[in-house]
Amino acid sequence: MQAGATTQGLSDKSDVPISPASAQRIGVPREVFPGEKRVATVPEVVEKLIKLGFSVAVESGAGDLANFSDEVYHAAGAEIITGAAALWAASDIVFKVRGPTPDEVALMHEGQTLISFIWPAQNPDLMQLLAARKVNVLAIDALPRTLSRAQKMDALTSQAGVAGYRAVIEAANAFGRFFSGQITAAGKVPPAKVFIAGAGVAGLAAIGTAASLGAIVRANDTRAEVADQVVSLGGEFVKVEYEEEGSGGGGYAKVMSEGFQQAQRAMYAKQAKEVDIIITTALIPGKPAPKLITAEMVQSMKPGSVIVDMAAEQGGNCELTEPGQAVVKHGVTIVGYTDLVSRLAKQSSTLYASNLFRLTEELCKTKDGIINVNMEDEAIRGLTVTKEGNITWPPPAPKLAAAPAPAAAAKPVAAPAAKKGHGHGGASEPMAGNKLAIMFGVAAALFWLIGSSAPPAFLSHFTVFVLACFVGYMVVWNVKPALHTPLMSVTNAISSIIAIGALVQVSPLAGTLDRPNDWISWVAAAGIVLTAINMFGGFAVTQRMLAMFRK
Ligand code: NAI
Repeated sequence: MQAGATTQGLSDKSDVPISPASAQRIGVPREVFPGEKRVATVPEVVEKLIKLGFSVAVESGAGDLANFSDEVYHAAGAEIITGAAALWAASDIVFKVRGPTPDEVALMHEGQTLISFIWPAQNPDLMQLLAARKVNVLAIDALPRTLSRAQKMDALTSQAGVAGYRAVIEAANAFGRFFSGQITAAGKVPPAKVFIAGAGVAGLAAIGTAASLGAIVRANDTRAEVADQVVSLGGEFVKVEYEEEGSGGGGYAKVMSEGFQQAQRAMYAKQAKEVDIIITTALIPGKPAPKLITAEMVQSMKPGSVIVDMAAEQGGNCELTEPGQAVVKHGVTIVGYTDLVSRLAKQSSTLYASNLFRLTEELCKTKDGIINVNMEDEAIRGLTVTKEGNITWPPPAPKLAAAPAPAAAAKPVAAPAAKKGHGHGGASEPMAGNKLAIMFGVAAALFWLIGSSAPPAFLSHFTVFVLACFVGYMVVWNVKPALHTPLMSVTNAISSIIAIGALVQVSPLAGTLDRPNDWISWVAAAGIVLTAINMFGGFAVTQRMLAMFRK
């Protein structure tokens, strides 16, 4: 690759790690979307990418709006390239925040890999343009979020968390009072009351932030399973008095019935009269934002109240929101900013860069500075939307959902009839059945061989061992990845069965009054106490974790 014009005016550093000659170059252009202040990598991540074997080039000025200067990138080992055309031409892999504009797509070359937000469902024209350039595109927004190992790459979560925090800061800025209650010589100040509509990633971040500032926080969501999370962040979950399951599968909500919506409106109307600040984050992916706050509700709020409508870009949760603006209507400030993440550009860029680094680690397990877009890997497959000019989106249906979900899917997926469900059923079943029969046959033959020569005592222990392995395997194999953490917790609790060993040893304890130095008994007693903590604590923690998955 051509090196482009570069590093002008920047002194060379001898302590910067050198990438191998075969290494692919990761290029980071300046974002061109109006008002976008983020940058796709930060200096501390540049160093990590170089350690992974890559060379890194950054367009001059790319980090300026996020407070990362060319000098700091250069000091971290990046080459600074002037001009977008030179940067795109010199890069094998391009990291971006916003999806490319048509002008940027025109700068791409065959075989290049782009990693950025794409929103393939909403941008079919962009998908066609990218496919025509015969490039590989990994849409970070298409990451299968329900895979537990995908969490570290989940840019939607990291960015929504920043937005939720910033929404509270914007509310505090527009609100004329303290958040926390205070008793001063001049009188008593009541704490602000904040109501959060929608407790997804952004909503939960907003709850935590508002509670930490001292406000009284209430929240509502159609998915009742988030109630525990709301409480654990210091909020109060306000229920809608109407029985209806709100989970649409995969951790997302569904459109609720008219009856539910009516009951919800009544509850929101009551909250609007009581609270000082409303932050709305309600959204179902791929649907227009539900209208939760009507003009009458705004009118009923106290003068000086604030609404921050985070769903402004998708039409808004409040009828009076003006996207991108902060307006005052009926004495209430309604903030509809669509750039909340960009307003904390340094923080959001750092988190985004870290997500992309984790993804790069998954793409370059060999640590030799060359990526492998492995379509057998479920996470990589999920976010690869074009490969060598072929549109590979949407991916096959995900194998697993985060929460135990009813049959209804969050959105239809036009998947080929390849894999379905949890590995049960589908076209592959007869094959799996054959394999199982062969495995059982081999195991039985081995067992017969061992049994014919081994001593009987060994054989009985061995039988118990084999059965234990089999039962353990069958139990663990069917547990969904989302439940692996509670599974580990419960197996840890069960491991306290070693207490039996201590119980056997402690038996002489009865005689310890005349044998006070029987240290084995005391060690065994201590062992029982410790394993009891492990056992009861383990079961208690497991129960709490499982409660978070129940509705
Ligand atoms: P999410 O999907 O994690 O959360 C949305 C929540 O809304 C879910 O918990 C869902 O159950 C709930 N919900 C859906 N319909 C509801 C209803 N009728 N009533 C009550 N709750 C309902 O989404 P995330 O990541 O938390 O984002 C929230 C919103 O913030 C989205 O609209 C997103 O586009 C927006 N956002 C805005 C930014 C900005 O700069 N303004 C930046 C980042 C996100």
